[in-house]
Amino acid sequence: MTITFIGHGYVGLVTAAVFADFGNKVYVIGHTKDKIENLNKGIIPIFEPGLEELVKENVAAKRLIFTLDYKISIPDSDIVFIAVGTPTTKTGDADLSTVLLVAEQIAKNLKGYTVVATKSTVPTGTNKKVRRILEEFRPKGTEVDYASVPEFLREGSAISDTVHPDRIVIGAESKRAQEALIKVHKQINAPVILTNFDTAELIKYAANSFLALKISYANAIAKLSEILNADALKVLEGIGMDKRIGDKFLSPGPGYGGSCFPKDVKALISIAKDNDYQFSLLEDVENINHQAKRDIVRKARKILGDFRGKRIGILGLAYKANTDDMRDAPAIDVINLLQNDGVKISAFDPKSIENAERVLKNVEYKKDPYEVASGADLLIILTEWNEFKELDFADIKKKMKSPNIIDGRNLYDGEKLRKEGFTYIGIGR
Ligand code: UGA
Repeated sequence: MTITFIGHGYVGLVTAAVFADFGNKVYVIGHTKDKIENLNKGIIPIFEPGLEELVKENVAAKRLIFTLDYKISIPDSDIVFIAVGTPTTKTGDADLSTVLLVAEQIAKNLKGYTVVATKSTVPTGTNKKVRRILEEFRPKGTEVDYASVPEFLREGSAISDTVHPDRIVIGAESKRAQEALIKVHKQINAPVILTNFDTAELIKYAANSFLALKISYANAIAKLSEILNADALKVLEGIGMDKRIGDKFLSPGPGYGGSCFPKDVKALISIAKDNDYQFSLLEDVENINHQAKRDIVRKARKILGDFRGKRIGILGLAYKANTDDMRDAPAIDVINLLQNDGVKISAFDPKSIENAERVLKNVEYKKDPYEVASGADLLIILTEWNEFKELDFADIKKKMKSPNIIDGRNLYDGEKLRKEGFTYIGIGR
């Protein structure tokens, strides 16, 4: 099949590369000349394990073509996926301006029969706006069906999530569109949910908000465990073994971040409010998430007392491991709160320092965890990178001014570190 993706962020780029690898001819439309030229050379703007190789292979095989031009790709395509960003507006809603703008460009260039499907996360009801634009701007004699096909991939494991998803959701109301979308997913072995547009759009927000809820629940249990002297990790393991609850997304930490959960929880609260429903459960999910970051700072104060003249070393800046993404990373809030109280910050992250430099000021970036430890009064672990799991703590202790650790991702054996002379605080233990 011939497919076009509009947008080359995580969703667009990864899904396009996977569909090209399945043997389809795939165009990806962007709007920045430099980026498109780089992509055609196999230079990708994000770090995602395995993606650069996959893009290079499929560009070389001429199955993956990056372009600025709607005129060649759209008329040639059986399916067009909209995969552009939907950032949060000041009022907490999703900003749909790019989605609507590209819908018009797609419509104007349609030829024959085409399915236009939204992969971007869009509020329930967006389909009506996009369908209206497609109808208004499509040339006479063309036929178009709309669909909503939300994406569930995670950064860091995006390729395998795309090839092995838990389900494929297809919101399409015409049989022809359903069949085209089932055909394009035929190499993927996953259950398919066929439904209407509004339901498909809501599934995406409901899924992300529920996962965020699980994380906030884990953080609340962690907090209570600290007060009650219980071990949150055992409590969460104990509840996670119940298949009705499940053991995934129950790791307490510095709070969820990234470009999706914070934005989507906010958007669902806002969608509910616009429809006269106060989703107070999700408001609490957000509050607990903010509290998780403040709690790290509270623990730092508990160890150090007065912050004046103190240096804290931060290990991990990205919002999670295996990505260089700093969007809404807990490290930003934690570092800002500490800096406001006069703390000097040094930090290391294996992949995200370049992105961190754009959003964090007055941080001394170091080239490894040992340099960060050097002269520090406290080390705080904020991202669960594998390479932080096996550190030489005897060396770290020698280098630190005072041997204090806040393990924001529960990576270490606290008892062992305490025996080695560290003051150690984890999350919920
Ligand atoms: C999330 C969803 O998991 C994807 O299904 C969805 O497609 C994507 O958003 C999206 O809407 O595009 P992502 O943001 O890439 O994916 O990363 P996650 O692995 O979900 O992690 C999100 C945040 O939750 C991270 O800050 C992570 O550290 C945190 N987290 C996750 C925890 O604090 N505890 C956990 O147990 C799990």
